[in-house]
Amino acid sequence: MKCGVGVCGSCDLSGKTCCRDGPVFSGEVALGLPEFGKQKRDATGRPERL
Ligand code: FES
Repeated sequence: MKCGVGVCGSCDLSGKTCCRDGPVFSGEVALGLPEFGKQKRDATGRPERL
C-alpha cells in the first residue's frame, strides 16, 4: 500500500480500497469483486493479470 488512507488508488480492488474498506473482506464480498483472484497490482499500482 502506498498512501494507506484511500487517496492514491494503488490498492483498488474493483472499486473497493483495501486500505480503507479492508484489508479483510468477507468471502461473499470478495467473490463478488471481478478482480479478485484474476489480477494483482505491480509496484506502481498498475493492474497485472495473474
Ligand atoms: S493505499 Fe492508497 S488508496 Fe489504498
